[in-house]
Amino acid sequence: MADTLPSYLTFELQKLMTNEFLNNKKQLFDLWALIYDWLFPSVFYQAIHKRLLEYIDLPAQPNVLDIGCGTGRLMERLATQFPDLRAIGLDLSTEMLRVARRNNHHRPRLIYIEGKAESLPFADGQFDAVFNTLSFLHYLEPQQVFDEVARVLSPGGRFYLVDLTARNSIHIPPQYTPVMVGGIRFLSLKTREDLGSGAGLLCLGHYPLLGPVFLTIFSKTPFV
Ligand SMILES: C[S@@+](CC[C@H](N)C(=O)[O-])C[C@H]1O[C@@H](n2cnc3c(N)ncnc32)[C@H](O)[C@@H]1O
Repeated sequence: MADTLPSYLTFELQKLMTNEFLNNKKQLFDLWALIYDWLFPSVFYQAIHKRLLEYIDLPAQPNVLDIGCGTGRLMERLATQFPDLRAIGLDLSTEMLRVARRNNHHRPRLIYIEGKAESLPFADGQFDAVFNTLSFLHYLEPQQVFDEVARVLSPGGRFYLVDLTARNSIHIPPQYTPVMVGGIRFLSLKTREDLGSGAGLLCLGHYPLLGPVFLTIFSKTPFV
C-alpha cells in the first residue's frame, strides 16, 4: 500500500487548508473593521501611508490597485494627492470594505471590490502601480501573490510593498518561515527580493518607513 496520499488528494487537502486559513482571516478582519480606524495602530498605519507617499512615482492618469486595502485610508490619500488617479481597492473582508465605501470621498474614481490577493480578478497589464500595505504578512502563498501582482502590472509598472520585517533577519525561504499565532509571517528583505525575481519583478530598493516597517519598490521588466 502506498504510504503517501495520491497527488490529487494532497492538492485537494492543500486547497481546503488554504480556504480555511482565508476564512479565518476574513472573520478576524470583519470583526476588526468596526474599530479599525479608532484603534491606536491606526495612527501608526496612517503615519506609514504618509511616508510612503514621498516615494511614489506615477505616470499621468494612473490606474492603480491597492491589495488588502482595509478601510481605504491609503486610497483616500492617493486620490487627494493625485487628482487624475483612478484606483481599485481589493480586500478579503466584507466589513473592511463596508467602512471603506462609507468613507469614499472620491467616487467614482475610487471603487472597492471583494477578492483575494492570491487570485486577482483583473486583466493582464491592467495597472500602472500596485500597492500593498501591512497586509502581506497575512498571506499563506506569497509567491502566488507576487505572480498575480506581476501579471496585472503593465510593463514598467511599479509594485509598492510595505510590511514589517526584521532588518537583520536571517534569510529563510517563505516555505520554511514559521507561521506565527494569528497566521502571520515576517519575511526578510532578501526574501522579498527573491519572491519578486521569481515573478519577474526587479527590486529597485528598500526604504525604512517606521521602525521595522520597510517599503520595497519593484518594477515590472518589459519581458514578463
Ligand atoms: C492590517 S490590515 C491593513 C489595511 C490597509 N492596507 C492599511 O494599510 O491600513 C490588513 C488587511 O489585509 C486584508 N487581507 C488579509 N489577507 C488577505 C488576502 N489574502 N487577500 C486580500 N486581502 C487580505 C485584511 O482583510 C485587512 O483588511
